[in-house]
Amino acid sequence: MLEPADLMQAVSESFRRGSLAGLNVVVTAGPTREPLYPVRYLSNRSSGKMGYAVAAAAHEAGATVCLVSGPVSLDPPPGVQLVLVESAQDMLTEVMARTSDCDIFIAAAAVADYQPAERAQHKVKRQANDWALSLKPAPDVLASVAASQPRPFCVGFAAETEQLQQHAQRKRLHKGIEMIAANQVGEGQGFDVDENALLLVWEGGQLQLEKDTKYRLAVRLIEQVAGIYKTSTQFNQTEHHAKHSA
Ligand code: PMT
Repeated sequence: MLEPADLMQAVSESFRRGSLAGLNVVVTAGPTREPLYPVRYLSNRSSGKMGYAVAAAAHEAGATVCLVSGPVSLDPPPGVQLVLVESAQDMLTEVMARTSDCDIFIAAAAVADYQPAERAQHKVKRQANDWALSLKPAPDVLASVAASQPRPFCVGFAAETEQLQQHAQRKRLHKGIEMIAANQVGEGQGFDVDENALLLVWEGGQLQLEKDTKYRLAVRLIEQVAGIYKTSTQFNQTEHHAKHSA
């Protein structure tokens, strides 16, 4: 028997409308922390603001949303399921457990590209000589989802300091994903600020979203994702019917 509050939530969910109504969406957000030893880690400046705004906008568009987030100091958007993780490996595990039956995956997290090759069990003491760190590639969450079967419609982000359009296009093809949202980062842009600008790139099209709040950009991103997702699933269904009725 459901508690009254859960019952109300379930009833209101069943009446949800919007461009993503009835769809399951997984969003990643925030940084990852790659441990060196129990008290120190490698990380980055992501605040989670962009990914949390995407999760809120997807929920408002009617989707059931799971937000897999690295450590940030934000409250989760109301109605969104939050799964907290630390490292790239944790994020990979939690995301892969949820994407086989999700419709759309949006990767806004700044996941580490490299992690320490070894993790010390105890605190490393300060010494007079240099400490050379050895790093190895961290798991690529987005590329792993894109390579899995069955797989959701995949949207990545590209954080670039130069040649935004070229790098975004290359990254989209390299990761094997349907759409990428590229943003210029560094010098007060992209990371840990309230506003952003996005260049959306997909096969056969692109759209520049000029500087605005991360929330308003997220709403426009979700509109665009919903449109392209629907066109691609209609195309796949038509192809499927054509194959099976031939
Ligand atoms: O969190 P904020 O302070 O609001 O900042 C927002 C943001 C700048 C972090 C966000 O808008 C953004 O750009 N996120 C992606 C950051 C990033 O890691 O970009 P990338 O170009 O290195 O990675 C490309 C894509 O692969 C991203 O979707 C990323 O989530 C994914 N990736 C990267 C590395 C990895 N090991 N696993 C991944 O899944």
